[in-house]
Amino acid sequence: MKLVQWLPLVLVVVLFMGQGSIALFTPVDNYLITCGSSGNVTFQGRTFVPDSDHSSLVQRNGNSLVASSNSVVPSPIYQSARVFTGIGSFKFEIKQEGRHWIRLYFFPLPESGQNLASATMSVVNDDFVLLNNFTFKNYNASYMFKEYAINVTSDVLTLTFIPSNNSVAFVNAIEVVSIPDWVLPDQALAVNPSSPFSGLSGLALETVYRLNMGGPLITSQNDTLGRTWEDDEKYLHVNSSAVKVSVSPSSIKYPPTGLTPETAPNWVYATAETMGDPNVANGNFNVTWVFQVDPNFMYFVRVHFCDIVSKALNTLVFNLYINDDSALGGFDMSSITNDLAVPIFKDYVSNSSDGSDSLTVSVGPDSMADVTNAIMNGLEIMKISNEFGSLDGLLSVDKILPTSTSNTSKIGVIVGSVGGAVAAVVLIGICYCCLASRKSKTTTNQGHPWLPLPLYGNSQTMTKMSTTSQKSATASCISLASSNLGRLFMFQEILDATNKFDESLLLGVGGFGRVYKGTLEDGTKVAVKRGNPRSEQGLAEFRTEIEMLSKLRHRHLVSLIGYCDERSEMILVYEYMANGPLRSHLYGTDLPSLSWKQRLEICIGAARGLHYLHTGAAQSIIHRDVKTTNILLDENFVAKVADFGLSKTGPSLDQTHVSTAVKGSFGYLDPEYFRRQQLTEKSDVYSFGVVLMEVLCTRPALNPVLPREQVNIAEWAMTWQKKGMLDQIMDSNLVGKVNMASLKKFGETAEKCLAEHGVDRPSMGDVLWNLEYALQLEETSSALMEPEDNSTNHIPGIQLTPIEPFDNSVSMIDRNSVTDDDAEDAATSAVFSQLVNPRGR
Ligand SMILES: *[C@@H]1O[C@H](CO)[C@@H](O)[C@H](O)[C@H]1NC(C)=O
Ligand SMILES: *[C@@H]1O[C@H](CO)[C@@H](O)[C@H](O)[C@H]1NC(C)=O
Ligand SMILES: *[C@@H]1O[C@H](CO)[C@@H](O)[C@H](O)[C@H]1NC(C)=O
Ligand SMILES: *[C@@H]1O[C@H](CO)[C@@H](O)[C@H](O)[C@H]1NC(C)=O
Ligand SMILES: *[C@@H]1O[C@H](CO)[C@@H](O)[C@H](O)[C@H]1NC(C)=O
Ligand SMILES: *[C@@H]1O[C@H](CO)[C@@H](O)[C@H](O)[C@H]1NC(C)=O
Ligand SMILES: *[C@@H]1O[C@H](CO)[C@@H](O)[C@H](O)[C@H]1NC(C)=O
Ligand SMILES: *[C@@H]1O[C@H](CO)[C@@H](O)[C@H](O)[C@H]1NC(C)=O
Ligand SMILES: *[C@@H]1O[C@H](CO)[C@@H](O)[C@H](O)[C@H]1NC(C)=O
Ligand SMILES: *[C@@H]1O[C@H](CO)[C@@H](O)[C@H](O)[C@H]1NC(C)=O
Ligand SMILES: *[C@@H]1O[C@H](CO)[C@@H](O)[C@H](O)[C@H]1NC(C)=O
Repeated sequence: MKLVQWLPLVLVVVLFMGQGSIALFTPVDNYLITCGSSGNVTFQGRTFVPDSDHSSLVQRNGNSLVASSNSVVPSPIYQSARVFTGIGSFKFEIKQEGRHWIRLYFFPLPESGQNLASATMSVVNDDFVLLNNFTFKNYNASYMFKEYAINVTSDVLTLTFIPSNNSVAFVNAIEVVSIPDWVLPDQALAVNPSSPFSGLSGLALETVYRLNMGGPLITSQNDTLGRTWEDDEKYLHVNSSAVKVSVSPSSIKYPPTGLTPETAPNWVYATAETMGDPNVANGNFNVTWVFQVDPNFMYFVRVHFCDIVSKALNTLVFNLYINDDSALGGFDMSSITNDLAVPIFKDYVSNSSDGSDSLTVSVGPDSMADVTNAIMNGLEIMKISNEFGSLDGLLSVDKILPTSTSNTSKIGVIVGSVGGAVAAVVLIGICYCCLASRKSKTTTNQGHPWLPLPLYGNSQTMTKMSTTSQKSATASCISLASSNLGRLFMFQEILDATNKFDESLLLGVGGFGRVYKGTLEDGTKVAVKRGNPRSEQGLAEFRTEIEMLSKLRHRHLVSLIGYCDERSEMILVYEYMANGPLRSHLYGTDLPSLSWKQRLEICIGAARGLHYLHTGAAQSIIHRDVKTTNILLDENFVAKVADFGLSKTGPSLDQTHVSTAVKGSFGYLDPEYFRRQQLTEKSDVYSFGVVLMEVLCTRPALNPVLPREQVNIAEWAMTWQKKGMLDQIMDSNLVGKVNMASLKKFGETAEKCLAEHGVDRPSMGDVLWNLEYALQLEETSSALMEPEDNSTNHIPGIQLTPIEPFDNSVSMIDRNSVTDDDAEDAATSAVFSQLVNPRGR
């Protein structure tokens, strides 16, 4: 589990297609999950890991049970199942967008304590209905395997299992595996009438038949994309019409471009069906395969050919028919391949035959050919999703999932599309739009209890019903915000808001100027930072800061509302954070202790903010001063990262990194950055690890009055974490009130963040996932728990050492002796420290 968890996400697929040498394809996303199992299951040479184990990558929601059986199962992959008693879902982090296989395994385990055979359920992903109202009662086989190819265009794939009334939903195993982009096309030829059909990439496909003509059965271990190729015999219309041929698979010559073993393994091309006894019926007949299909759908048909029978070029010329329509006439593949034994394939889109429930594919000799023969090596038939985005029935995802798409979010879309027309409208638009996206977020969270964890607070993820509308709302927010520089305030407005800079509203003072609490005309509370007119910070820097900050708009970043540059004033207006810095809720004040769940939520919020800084903007932004005083809480205890004005953007500022003294705060500093003075996102991850430990142990990052080994929280907590006994030094208020599995996950996450070397630390995205999982464990701890989640971390009954609070918010920068280069940052930092650490109140 640990191995999988932190594997570097750098999987580069190198394909030397030009020289005929072919590298093995390695899927970027490769989830093989056995559901409800307590251990790994090896199936067809591949290892499936339990769904309880895949914590950092896969999330499971909803009340669920595990089922397993000792009775005979069709294969080991079916020996256990995850049973959902309500709507449940799996979320998969997708590292590379594009087509993915989604493979589902179902077998109604007889001794599961539930009547799975009569369970009725639907399965949907964010955009497509995969199964609708399916039950084994109406299904002829004892088990079911389903394969879908879906173009995932967000960074999370959600698979939701919906039981029908009073029923349960279940699944035995799941695969989510990347498919190389070139394997499935966007365009194919429709046969009747013959015309190009495009737009496949936006549609879902379900494999209904995949045949290796002439056999044998090829299972997933012999196919680089994990596909199964069945023998064709039982689909032949007339058995005796065809005869099998085969050559050695090694004699198959993949062409230099366009076709690789990912298209189909050489075993497929090395065997074929050709025309049987040509003496029958004057040697002129078709070889036909007949397939049962649902007439309400269209089908993608791919036919694989490879001339393994001819002795010379241009001798084998034949026709291909789909239903009774000509798909290929007088087809001489050697005129294209210029060689024998070179694979080639053709793609079509077709309906069933005349609205019947069958689809036929035939090959037959061309009347003009010298040799009377025809060949087919492989055939794939895939169902295409219909206009409802369904592969099963006529209901769309939002008809199956009870949705509550809010009306407010639509306003955002409308505003977004009108945006840019009139400045005033745009301004109102920003307000509405942000308001709307926030509102709809809340509604979404409340309205979809089975999906309690929107991943990246703002935009990227969540389910379809929230995305379609909300995504665009937020997107328009961002684009509007970045094309404007926030709101331009009149100086009079600022005077009104702060009661003429009333000293009683002073939140803090710093080198740059003063920070006041203010109230705008509409009642919005703000923090107003007023630049000292004599400050070294020139107008250019002021503007740079506005430009940078106004691009950073995220629910978990303290945002810049606007600015004022009237009368050579330099005033920045930020959102006001009612509950102040996180640190003051941990120690050193009389504020009530935060619950474990609150702490997790705050850490998740902050992680989201940092994740956005690292990945959300065009240029990655490194915060450089992540600490508990820079994580602020709003009136609802929503965490927001502050002080990113001090942050630096990526590579272009390398020079600054080298020449600038190491910045940041003692106790939070990445040791590697300290040594090598090379700043990366992983430095923030380290600091965040310190924050996590601080949140758990409620003590300062550095506390020099403690015994030597305890001074530094990172070292101290790590020694306990490595012993698996982190609970020994955690906040005494939490003892007995924390789910141990959740704590364990949290501890592991912090440990990884604090790794000595940046490369060994997870990305903020990974940290986020793990924290969300920890939250999930905490939330479900009262509900059904799996035994796997039981922790060995906890040894009850050992006393905690009381720890004195100590102020550690000393910054490494000596503010009185900074160089010019540093002055701005130091000043900004100082002001922010004041802002977040108010003393004038
Ligand atoms: C299960 O498989 C994973 C991935 O192959 C591996 O890392 C892990 O060690 C295996 N676990 C067991 C108990 O064999
Ligand atoms: C599921 O099937 C039942 C009858 O078997 C039907 O009443 C119900 O409407 C179906 N639900 C869906 C979502 O198709
Ligand atoms: C099940 O098989 C029987 C006999 O082969 C057939 O008549 C029936 O239509 C099949 N039912 C389904 C739902 O496929
Ligand atoms: C399922 O429940 C809903 C609401 O309780 C009801 O309207 C619907 O008719 C039920 N469907 C079936 C197939 O029982
Ligand atoms: C997936 O969809 C996106 C957006 O529609 C498209 O740009 C991309 O080419 C598609 N990828 C594949 C492999 O079809
Ligand atoms: C499939 O792979 C297995 C193990 O690698 C091998 O023994 C078997 O011969 C292969 N079968 C085919 C049809 O390629
Ligand atoms: C054709 O062959 C298949 C497989 O050997 C067999 O099941 C089927 O009955 C045969 N059909 C005819 C018409 O002989
Ligand atoms: C093969 O099938 C096609 C389409 O049904 C038909 O037009 C053609 O005449 C057939 N060829 C022979 C030789 O039967
Ligand atoms: C399939 O049939 C539908 C409706 O009859 C038609 O609109 C569509 O174009 C057909 N598709 C193909 C590929 O023939
Ligand atoms: C959305 O607004 C329309 C008209 O304004 C109203 O009829 C509908 O009930 C609203 N839907 C929701 C979910 O609020
Ligand atoms: C967890 O472990 C403890 C001690 O071994 C045991 O008493 C408890 O029942 C376990 N809980 C679960 C959910 O397995």
